[in-house]
Amino acid sequence: MRPRSFTVRIPIVGALLLSVAADSSPTVPWPHGEPPTTDALAAAVTEALAIGDRERVEEFLEAAEKGEDGEHIQLSQKDIDQNNYGLGELARLFQFGDSFFGHEFRSEDGYGASVNPQLQRVHNGVYGGLDTFSCAGCHSVGGPDGAGAETQNAFVLGDGEHLSSANVRNAPAVLGLGFIQALGAEMSFELQYERDTALAKASETGNPVPLILESKGVTFGKLIVYPDGSMDTGQVEGIDPDLTVKPFGWKGNVARLRRFAEDAARIHFGIQSQVLCAQHQTNPQPEKLGTGDKWFDPDNDGKFNEALEGILTASAVYMAMLESPVMLPPFDPGLRDRWASGSVLFEQVGCSNCHVRSLHVAYSTWKEYPDLTGGPPVQLNLMLDGEQPKSTLVVPLFSDLKRHDMGPTLADPHDDPDGIPRSVFLTRPLWGLAESAPYLHDGRAATILEAVLAHGGEAQQSRDQFAALSSEGQQSLHVFLLSLTREPKPRVTR
Ligand code: HEC
Ligand code: HEC
Repeated sequence: MRPRSFTVRIPIVGALLLSVAADSSPTVPWPHGEPPTTDALAAAVTEALAIGDRERVEEFLEAAEKGEDGEHIQLSQKDIDQNNYGLGELARLFQFGDSFFGHEFRSEDGYGASVNPQLQRVHNGVYGGLDTFSCAGCHSVGGPDGAGAETQNAFVLGDGEHLSSANVRNAPAVLGLGFIQALGAEMSFELQYERDTALAKASETGNPVPLILESKGVTFGKLIVYPDGSMDTGQVEGIDPDLTVKPFGWKGNVARLRRFAEDAARIHFGIQSQVLCAQHQTNPQPEKLGTGDKWFDPDNDGKFNEALEGILTASAVYMAMLESPVMLPPFDPGLRDRWASGSVLFEQVGCSNCHVRSLHVAYSTWKEYPDLTGGPPVQLNLMLDGEQPKSTLVVPLFSDLKRHDMGPTLADPHDDPDGIPRSVFLTRPLWGLAESAPYLHDGRAATILEAVLAHGGEAQQSRDQFAALSSEGQQSLHVFLLSLTREPKPRVTR
């Protein structure tokens, strides 16, 4: 059964997010702390029931009018550009994105490719592996839009047959990603600006300019630029030489949510996007042109236009608007003391060198630009709490959004096509940790403690300091990490 989402899914990021950013005296909301008012509880339950009802009606409608469901995943970018969906009507786009995320892909949608028409689990080149039927089929641990269990692991870049040919990946939750995307874009902008300013200076003075790369308090090594415009990137750390921060994927190899939606649909379901086809000019179908959208069928399964650009936009908007994980310390006074000392130890043993508690987003408006149509961007207010955009926003993600060498034990068995070394991974954001077991890129760690003890490479010293703590200290740190969780919500199940 596909896990359905019945929780209140409209984001509630504002006050709570800010109140937990400084964890000296965080607010502890229900059910761990003060009970909600009767009105607040009634409103939450009513909303959960409404979502449950809506999804149930949709299932009946799909049974009564076959294909009804498929219409919810067809959205043209031109409709969005021409404002047919209203740039202000983000809720409509959110719902398209929600439908795409929960949709069970099937043959009439173009599920599968002529080369791999069936589920085979192990991926094989561009047509992926067909490993389940919906995004929600893997992103469900801990609640809707959640993480993946060990049994939902993806086996990427393999030969289509043997598990040992693939790199193994466990699914993280897709919560709070709008903030992470914005942070990545701002950091890239800052680093590239520093580089371009140094280039101008080098050409002006005729001398090489060494530059310490830094953005939002995170350093990315050193760059030397020369008067002729060439650069020495040999000492650049934790980022590609193009200085683009890519905050998604365990390897830190994807910068935009729409790219992840596109790649996920392709490798998990064999659903190809319009953007991919336009870029690669794969198997164009000229006789079909002239209908307004480019028609394509690169996997030769007889189904054209499997994913229109508009649905990538809706999917990116949807994921960017989802709630963020929260910090919920224990309410019990004794446990609260353990939590507080765990929080101090998190700093003392060096976890926060990489798992930086929070980064600041400068611009709370995100512009989601289309790839092909050249239309206007869809504008999102990341706060979405009905207030005016804030000038600065603290995102308690627990990551520096930088890649680190984690040592040979954690290394992948196979090379990465982007050339990121096998043992190098992005500092995984720890927000939402408590609800996202199992842990690490391949889900090898069943518990948080196992994940910490598996750290090596650049994290070896921190890991050893953790291992050298008294058992009480280790447990306190564990209590602290368990407070990184998701907002509790009423949910309707049947
Ligand atoms: C077979 C299981 C599976 C399915 C189905 C699946 N995902 Fe994922 N998802 C994963 C795994 C595994 C990762 C980690 C991938 C990596 O790091 O390379 C991931 C990562 C992500 C991320 C990046 C999160 C982060 O913080 O780095 C996004 C966004 C995402 N998936 C969206 C989607 C969307 C949208 C769909 C449906 C079109 C989808 N996923 C379907 C398993 C799945
Ligand atoms: C050098 C940087 C670095 C340091 C220091 C570091 N980590 Fe990590 N951490 C990472 C990276 C990178 C990953 C992802 C590794 C992987 O999946 O193979 C990670 C993963 C994790 C995970 C698993 C997250 C998940 O969702 O699966 C936990 C838990 C964690 N770290 C906790 C800690 C704690 C606690 C400390 C301090 C004792 C610490 N880390 C120190 C870089 C670091």
